[in-house]
Amino acid sequence: MTAHDLALTEVPPPSVTTDRFDPRLVSMLRPESFDADQYRMLRYAVERVCTGKKGCHTIAITSPIAGDGKTVTSVNLAATIAKAEQSRVLLVDTDLRRPNLGRILGQHGHDHEGSSLVDAVLDRRQTLERAAWRLEAFNLSVVTTRRPAVDTYELLASDRFSELVRAARDHFDYILLDSAPVLPAPDCRLLGQLIDGFLVVVAAGKTPRRLLEETLVTLGPEKVLGLVFNGEILAQSRYSRYYYGYYHQKEK
Ligand SMILES: Nc1ncnc2c1ncn2[C@@H]1O[C@H](COP(=O)(O)OP(=O)(O)OP(=O)(O)O)[C@@H](O)[C@H]1O
Ligand SMILES: [Mg+2]
Repeated sequence: MTAHDLALTEVPPPSVTTDRFDPRLVSMLRPESFDADQYRMLRYAVERVCTGKKGCHTIAITSPIAGDGKTVTSVNLAATIAKAEQSRVLLVDTDLRRPNLGRILGQHGHDHEGSSLVDAVLDRRQTLERAAWRLEAFNLSVVTTRRPAVDTYELLASDRFSELVRAARDHFDYILLDSAPVLPAPDCRLLGQLIDGFLVVVAAGKTPRRLLEETLVTLGPEKVLGLVFNGEILAQSRYSRYYYGYYHQKEK
């Protein structure tokens, strides 16, 4: 192990109030857990896909229907990528119909610093990096949102929204968009032009195959970077007996 490696392993734990975080945010709350390691594997896969592509990588996280785990996956992945100190990561809530990113991070309404995505779109002087709420302890910038009074589709279809995302590419290495589901709402289709690709979250054991197929056809296979199986229960996994001892070994 080199001195550089040692410095990386000796970073102290974050000193931020995480009491109100959703317990599923394992990458932030339980970084040593089995579940957090699954997000490291996802980070590795995403970084592999992005290797060789210069500039900022803009990825939307979506799924066939509501409740598949898009928001939980987005935050865990963003926090895992942001562990690399040199990575500048921006996570944006573009699910304007069910804006849950703030809530999952323990915010009620819009009671944190930074402004909402909707307000950033409406205010021509605003940028995403200024609108972002900075979670310094996690090296992560987050833009949450409120529901707009105007049509969500028109807002995401606006030149102003595209301009905000394009301008942010100069300031970040990764922009992750927590997005609306594909089948019940048209919104996600608007993101295709703006992004490098989609990660499609599949609720393990729940999402019907036919809905997944329809989703992949709708997004276009060339735009789908990969599938994320969310919520696979360790105890039901065929590998569980091999893993169990590894993660539950008593300290000697
Ligand atoms: N891996 C998991 N294990 C157990 N519960 C989970 C997991 N991932 C998400 N959940 C729970 O499922 C619910 C939906 O998760 P989440 O909000 O991430 O889904 P979503 O696809 O973003 O939903 P929406 O379409 O409403 O935005 C939440 O209550 C969350 O805590
Ligand atoms: Mg969500």
